[in-house]
Amino acid sequence: MKKLSEIEKNIVLCGFMGCGKTTIGRRLSAETDLDFIDIDKYIENKKGICISSIFEIYGENYFRNLETEACMELSKCKGKIIATGGGTLINSENVEILKYTGIIIFLDISLPEASKRLSFSVKRPLLDREDRHEYIEKLYYERKPLYENAADVAINADIPSILICEKIVRYLSSKLYLA
Ligand code: S3P
Repeated sequence: MKKLSEIEKNIVLCGFMGCGKTTIGRRLSAETDLDFIDIDKYIENKKGICISSIFEIYGENYFRNLETEACMELSKCKGKIIATGGGTLINSENVEILKYTGIIIFLDISLPEASKRLSFSVKRPLLDREDRHEYIEKLYYERKPLYENAADVAINADIPSILICEKIVRYLSSKLYLA
Protein backbone atom coordinates (compact mmCIF):
# COMPACT_ATOMS: atom_id res chain seq x y z
CA MET A 1 0.00 0.00 0.00
CA LYS A 2 1.21 3.50 -0.82
CA LYS A 3 1.51 6.27 1.75
CA LEU A 4 0.23 9.83 1.36
CA SER A 5 3.82 11.03 1.09
CA GLU A 6 4.08 9.08 -2.18
CA ILE A 7 1.15 10.89 -3.80
CA GLU A 8 1.95 11.98 -7.35
CA LYS A 9 -0.72 14.64 -7.72
CA ASN A 10 -0.46 18.04 -6.13
CA ILE A 11 -2.89 18.91 -3.36
CA VAL A 12 -4.27 22.35 -4.19
CA LEU A 13 -6.03 24.33 -1.44
CA CYS A 14 -8.50 27.01 -2.49
CA GLY A 15 -11.09 29.21 -0.83
CA PHE A 16 -11.95 32.72 0.27
CA MET A 17 -9.44 34.99 2.00
CA GLY A 18 -9.11 33.95 5.62
CA CYS A 19 -10.30 30.38 5.13
CA GLY A 20 -6.94 29.04 6.36
CA LYS A 21 -5.23 27.90 3.14
CA THR A 22 -1.75 28.73 4.46
CA THR A 23 -2.33 27.41 7.98
CA ILE A 24 -3.83 24.16 6.71
CA GLY A 25 -1.14 23.81 4.04
CA ARG A 26 1.64 24.13 6.64
CA ARG A 27 -0.04 21.71 8.98
CA LEU A 28 -0.70 19.14 6.25
CA SER A 29 2.89 19.47 5.14
CA ALA A 30 4.14 18.72 8.67
CA GLU A 31 1.81 15.73 8.93
CA THR A 32 2.55 14.23 5.52
CA ASP A 33 6.15 15.26 4.81
CA LEU A 34 5.02 16.75 1.49
CA ASP A 35 6.51 20.14 0.59
CA PHE A 36 4.27 23.17 0.97
CA ILE A 37 4.20 26.06 -1.51
CA ASP A 38 2.11 29.19 -0.99
CA ILE A 39 1.48 30.88 -4.36
CA ASP A 40 1.56 34.39 -2.85
CA LYS A 41 4.92 33.66 -1.19
CA TYR A 42 6.19 32.04 -4.40
CA ILE A 43 5.38 35.23 -6.34
CA GLU A 44 6.88 37.45 -3.62
CA ASN A 45 10.11 35.45 -3.62
CA LYS A 46 10.33 35.39 -7.40
CA LYS A 47 9.75 39.12 -7.76
CA GLY A 48 11.47 40.23 -4.54
CA ILE A 49 8.51 42.42 -3.59
CA CYS A 50 5.43 41.88 -1.40
CA ILE A 51 1.91 41.38 -2.80
CA SER A 52 0.63 44.71 -1.44
CA SER A 53 3.43 46.57 -3.23
CA ILE A 54 2.78 44.65 -6.46
CA PHE A 55 -0.86 45.81 -6.33
CA GLU A 56 0.13 49.35 -5.44
CA ILE A 57 2.89 49.80 -8.02
CA TYR A 58 1.78 47.63 -10.95
CA GLY A 59 -1.95 47.09 -10.35
CA GLU A 60 -4.17 44.04 -9.95
CA ASN A 61 -4.02 42.88 -13.59
CA TYR A 62 -0.27 42.55 -13.41
CA PHE A 63 -0.60 40.50 -10.23
CA ARG A 64 -3.20 38.24 -11.89
CA ASN A 65 -0.76 37.55 -14.74
CA LEU A 66 1.92 36.64 -12.22
CA GLU A 67 -0.57 34.27 -10.59
CA THR A 68 -1.22 32.49 -13.89
CA GLU A 69 2.52 32.27 -14.56
CA ALA A 70 2.99 30.75 -11.07
CA CYS A 71 0.18 28.24 -11.69
CA MET A 72 1.87 27.11 -14.90
CA GLU A 73 5.22 26.67 -13.17
CA LEU A 74 3.82 24.94 -10.10
CA SER A 75 1.60 22.59 -12.09
CA LYS A 76 4.81 20.94 -13.30
CA CYS A 77 5.51 19.80 -9.72
CA LYS A 78 4.47 16.45 -8.31
CA GLY A 79 3.22 15.74 -4.82
CA LYS A 80 3.32 19.30 -3.49
CA ILE A 81 0.78 20.99 -1.25
CA ILE A 82 -0.10 24.27 -2.96
CA ALA A 83 -2.05 27.10 -1.30
CA THR A 84 -3.66 29.36 -3.88
CA GLY A 85 -4.58 33.00 -3.22
CA GLY A 86 -8.27 33.76 -2.72
CA GLY A 87 -8.55 35.04 -6.29
CA THR A 88 -6.41 32.47 -8.10
CA LEU A 89 -9.19 30.06 -9.06
CA ILE A 90 -11.57 32.83 -10.07
CA ASN A 91 -9.74 32.64 -13.38
CA SER A 92 -10.90 29.45 -15.15
CA GLU A 93 -7.56 29.20 -16.97
CA ASN A 94 -5.82 28.78 -13.61
CA VAL A 95 -8.32 26.11 -12.60
CA GLU A 96 -7.60 24.17 -15.77
CA ILE A 97 -3.84 24.45 -15.28
CA LEU A 98 -3.84 23.36 -11.64
CA LYS A 99 -6.47 20.65 -12.06
CA TYR A 100 -4.37 18.93 -14.71
CA THR A 101 -1.86 17.73 -12.12
CA GLY A 102 -3.71 18.40 -8.88
CA ILE A 103 -6.59 17.52 -6.63
CA ILE A 104 -8.43 20.70 -5.69
CA ILE A 105 -9.72 21.06 -2.14
CA PHE A 106 -12.12 23.90 -1.32
CA LEU A 107 -11.84 25.16 2.26
CA ASP A 108 -15.42 26.27 2.67
CA ILE A 109 -15.60 29.00 5.30
CA SER A 110 -18.91 30.66 6.22
CA LEU A 111 -19.35 34.39 5.60
CA PRO A 112 -19.61 35.33 9.32
CA GLU A 113 -16.41 33.43 10.12
CA ALA A 114 -14.55 34.92 7.12
CA SER A 115 -15.71 38.44 8.06
CA LYS A 116 -14.55 37.91 11.64
CA ARG A 117 -11.11 36.67 10.60
CA LEU A 118 -10.67 39.45 8.03
CA SER A 119 -11.87 42.37 10.08
CA PHE A 120 -8.38 43.37 11.23
CA SER A 121 -6.38 42.12 8.22
CA VAL A 122 -3.84 44.69 7.05
CA LYS A 123 -1.94 42.74 4.40
CA ARG A 124 -4.71 42.24 1.85
CA PRO A 125 -4.75 45.03 -0.72
CA LEU A 126 -8.26 44.18 -1.95
CA LEU A 127 -9.64 44.93 1.50
CA ASP A 128 -7.93 48.28 1.86
CA ARG A 129 -11.14 50.28 1.42
CA GLU A 130 -13.80 51.97 3.51
CA ASP A 131 -16.65 49.62 2.62
CA ARG A 132 -14.60 46.54 3.58
CA HIS A 133 -17.52 44.63 5.11
CA GLU A 134 -19.90 45.14 2.20
CA TYR A 135 -17.09 44.31 -0.23
CA ILE A 136 -16.21 41.08 1.59
CA GLU A 137 -19.85 40.02 1.35
CA LYS A 138 -20.08 40.87 -2.36
CA LEU A 139 -16.84 39.03 -3.23
CA TYR A 140 -17.81 36.06 -1.06
CA TYR A 141 -21.06 35.43 -2.90
CA GLU A 142 -19.47 36.01 -6.30
CA ARG A 143 -16.64 33.60 -5.61
CA LYS A 144 -18.20 30.76 -3.64
CA PRO A 145 -19.83 29.07 -6.68
CA LEU A 146 -16.56 29.34 -8.59
CA TYR A 147 -14.62 27.57 -5.83
CA GLU A 148 -17.34 24.92 -5.69
CA ASN A 149 -17.14 24.31 -9.44
CA ALA A 150 -13.37 24.15 -9.46
CA ALA A 151 -12.98 21.80 -6.52
CA ASP A 152 -12.94 18.01 -6.29
CA VAL A 153 -14.18 18.26 -2.72
CA ALA A 154 -15.41 20.91 -0.27
CA ILE A 155 -14.49 20.79 3.40
CA ASN A 156 -16.05 22.94 6.13
CA ALA A 157 -13.36 25.38 7.18
CA ASP A 158 -15.09 26.91 10.23
CA ILE A 159 -13.76 24.09 12.44
CA PRO A 160 -10.27 23.83 14.07
CA SER A 161 -7.39 23.23 11.65
CA ILE A 162 -6.49 19.88 13.23
CA LEU A 163 -9.96 18.56 12.28
CA ILE A 164 -9.78 20.03 8.78
CA CYS A 165 -6.47 18.26 8.19
CA GLU A 166 -7.92 14.98 9.44
CA LYS A 167 -10.77 15.31 6.95
CA ILE A 168 -8.42 16.10 4.08
CA VAL A 169 -6.18 13.12 4.86
CA ARG A 170 -9.23 10.85 5.11
CA TYR A 171 -10.56 12.12 1.79
CA LEU A 172 -7.23 11.67 0.00
CA SER A 173 -6.70 8.24 1.50
CA SER A 174 -10.10 6.99 0.35
CA LYS A 175 -9.76 8.54 -3.09
CA LEU A 176 -6.29 7.28 -3.78
CA TYR A 177 -6.65 3.95 -2.03
CA LEU A 178 -3.68 4.73 0.16
CA ALA A 179 -2.85 2.94 3.40
C1 S3P B 1 -6.48 37.79 -3.02
C2 S3P B 1 -6.15 37.03 -1.93
C3 S3P B 1 -4.82 37.04 -1.30
C4 S3P B 1 -3.75 37.50 -2.32
C5 S3P B 1 -4.15 38.78 -2.97
C6 S3P B 1 -5.49 38.68 -3.70
C7 S3P B 1 -7.85 37.68 -3.56
O1 S3P B 1 -4.49 35.76 -0.80
O2 S3P B 1 -3.54 36.51 -3.30
O3 S3P B 1 -4.19 39.76 -1.97
O4 S3P B 1 -8.10 38.09 -4.70
O5 S3P B 1 -8.73 37.14 -2.84
P1 S3P B 1 -5.21 35.13 0.52
O6 S3P B 1 -6.45 34.44 0.08
O7 S3P B 1 -4.19 34.19 1.03
O8 S3P B 1 -5.47 36.26 1.45
